[in-house]
Amino acid sequence: MRETRAEIDLGAIRENVLLACRLAGPAAQVMAVVKADAYGHGAAPVARIALAAGATWLGVAVPEEAAVLREAGIQSRILVLGPIATEQAELVVDHGLDQCVSDPAQADALDRMARRRGRVVSLHLKVDTGMGRVGLPPREVRPAADHLARLPAIRLAGLMTHFADADADDPAFTQEQMARFEAAAQALRDAGIAVPLRHAANSAALLLHPGSRLDLVRPGIMLYGCHPRGARRPDDPVLHPALRLRTAITQVKDVTAGSSISYGRTFVASRDVRIATIPIGYADGLPRLLSNRGQALVRGRRAPLVGRVCMDMTMVDVTALPEVRAGDEAVLIGRQGDEEITADEVAELAGTISYEILCRIGPRVPRTYRPTDAAGVPPAVAFPPKPLDNSRGPHL
Ligand SMILES: Cc1ncc(COP(=O)(O)O)c(C=O)c1O
Repeated sequence: MRETRAEIDLGAIRENVLLACRLAGPAAQVMAVVKADAYGHGAAPVARIALAAGATWLGVAVPEEAAVLREAGIQSRILVLGPIATEQAELVVDHGLDQCVSDPAQADALDRMARRRGRVVSLHLKVDTGMGRVGLPPREVRPAADHLARLPAIRLAGLMTHFADADADDPAFTQEQMARFEAAAQALRDAGIAVPLRHAANSAALLLHPGSRLDLVRPGIMLYGCHPRGARRPDDPVLHPALRLRTAITQVKDVTAGSSISYGRTFVASRDVRIATIPIGYADGLPRLLSNRGQALVRGRRAPLVGRVCMDMTMVDVTALPEVRAGDEAVLIGRQGDEEITADEVAELAGTISYEILCRIGPRVPRTYRPTDAAGVPPAVAFPPKPLDNSRGPHL
């Protein structure tokens, strides 16, 4: 295997899921959001550990992601959070997925497909309370629910919304969204329409807005060990980063003063330097914006990335570490010795958020898992001490 890989600590994910379950409390179920290949961590192993640790639902963006989970043998409820094209209705029905809908026409397509298959599909109506992305305006929720009630193969399973700003210091807009959501839920109650599950909370809301927990919470980024609002503040609960992006030095060379490194000659050595080359580049998800700005951990110390990050390789100035040799490990995200580079630190340098840094780690980077069985395979149901308790939700 190439030395460049992402090491996933399933124990860290388990701890983060346990925290989400504790915060959710006994009244709310936990949906582990595993879209985008579990934010780059690998959907099936993450889903298994999350379910074993107490999550009862999984959330994905598109039905194709859920199909991968079903093929991996995962039978829990899975909600497709994103909108679908008519052609995707078949996948939703055949894999027994729950679907989020913002448009009654989508419900019609699902109803037709479900009737053809002799099945029933569970839908979650999405209300746009202020995100401005997808969702029905609150005044259209009641007519949409009436419409669903007329479709024989459709069951209304939930009412949901998504927060735009739950990580903000000012809670006012999240509170306003909650009030709009509660009003929409009340309108359905007043009409005698039963909504089994109301849900709204992403990681930020779960951590910061206890009133938003309702019947189900949908944490994503916190399960991977990152705080939704960036670097941890003193009062934030401890999360456990689950991903370590590492490689090994392929070459070390001495470079004389005046020589340049990499494309565009953006780094010119002002003195004699030692340069290590590492086999990881922007095609692997290392942001090119780290050129001449980022760092790698080598022999437990920080060393600067010099010159432009290339597609497949990057150079590191190891002048301060004369003992460095080819084969030494270099860490781009994660811990080495007493030092740590967090996904948030990388995100800050790249002008983005930890979410993007994690889910852009490319398919060329193999994921390895701890713990594994003797054959190196992640456990199918990891950490048996906690029994799988999915009793609060119906299953396939
Ligand atoms: C509808 C929905 N719910 C929950 C989440 C999880 O959000 P986070 O990763 O911020 O916890 C997402 C992610 O974007 C989402 O789109």
